[in-house]
Amino acid sequence: MAGCGSWLFFVSVWAVGLLGAKAEIKLTIPVGRLFTYELLRETFQSDFEPLSKLYAGRLYDDPMIFKCNQQNFPDLPEWLRFTQRHPFDNGFLYGTPTTPGKSIIEVYAVNKRSYETTRQIFVIKAVSERMPPFQAEFFIKLREIEKVLPSSVQGEIKQDLQKLWDTEALEIVNISNALDRGGRVPLPIAGHFEGVYVKVGSEHYFSECLLRTLSSEHGRQCTAGTKVKVPGGCNFCSIPSNCISWCKTELFDLTKQEPAPPAPTVGSGIMEAGGDFNPPDSPPSRDYFPDYMVTVIVPLILALVLFIMLAYIMFGRREGVVKRDERTNQIQLYHHHTIHGNTDELRDMAGNRGLPPPLSTLPMFNYRTGEGAPPLQSDSPTIPLIMAQHDPYSDTLPR
Ligand SMILES: *[C@@H]1O[C@H](CO)[C@@H](O)[C@H](O)[C@H]1NC(C)=O
Repeated sequence: MAGCGSWLFFVSVWAVGLLGAKAEIKLTIPVGRLFTYELLRETFQSDFEPLSKLYAGRLYDDPMIFKCNQQNFPDLPEWLRFTQRHPFDNGFLYGTPTTPGKSIIEVYAVNKRSYETTRQIFVIKAVSERMPPFQAEFFIKLREIEKVLPSSVQGEIKQDLQKLWDTEALEIVNISNALDRGGRVPLPIAGHFEGVYVKVGSEHYFSECLLRTLSSEHGRQCTAGTKVKVPGGCNFCSIPSNCISWCKTELFDLTKQEPAPPAPTVGSGIMEAGGDFNPPDSPPSRDYFPDYMVTVIVPLILALVLFIMLAYIMFGRREGVVKRDERTNQIQLYHHHTIHGNTDELRDMAGNRGLPPPLSTLPMFNYRTGEGAPPLQSDSPTIPLIMAQHDPYSDTLPR
């Protein structure tokens, strides 16, 4: 079933170093067909362990991550992708080359236990191949890319699609993660998957079942969101997780594609004779003076005004800063002035206390009747000393 048309990978391993540590893997793949390569952790594991340990029967199962890039470039070529779900899973290189050519891929494996690294080089040569003229893309909702890339699963999916297409001559053109095409990250709940797009191609025209997806009735059912009725004869999914979403199925007939627009005719590169070169007008000159005023002069004036104000406050109005010959006199005056001010203030405050104090502040206050003991007339601690001397506002006490 999988035999016809499928390419063999010409794999040859060059042992460069003495211990075979530096291996170069050469792969030849056809353009327009899916390429997958599983980066097996066990292969890299043997690079991390000395042979003696391996022969001693110790088995390691270290977590590992891979870093892949095109040699001398920071990333992989556009057509090639890498995926690994978990450090305890194998990684996958996959993608569909679109143009013939050679890519040298470096794969670094990092052992997450010992933090050792090892490197492997892949030389991938894409050779041109006729594209299958009839292609169809299917969406498998209940899958994740890593679960689909192992060749056994690819085989299962292909088998179902061969029955659907009613031909054996079917090849997988592309497999891609729905997340790369605007899909959403699913909830971390069992039964929620990212989804995978699988594109297959064939030399055979589409089967009746596939052509059904082009019917207007099918389109209506899909837009209405009702359950799409597919005749039993078209349902070929042997494993529930491999079932396709009918509404996301798309057919591509490359034979009906419009021919590419003709390439633009290239001129001689020499301008026709006659006619002077007319340089484009330079943009109108701009007056920068208002901008200059706003950004430079105005802040400068503001700063100057502030400076002058500050200078006036600091030097023009400051008390106590006097000429040297008047100094003592002035300081005395200043002292006099402040003493006066302070006494006045104290008197003012004491005058406010001439009012009878609230009852509750009196000693022996009966809170029910409001009656209080007669205030002490003599030697009261509530009468300040300063008032006793000369209080102009109080007439209860003699001056
Ligand atoms: C394969 O699918 C990916 C992701 O959608 C896309 O970027 C790429 O162009 C496809 N390749 C081919 C050859 O269709």
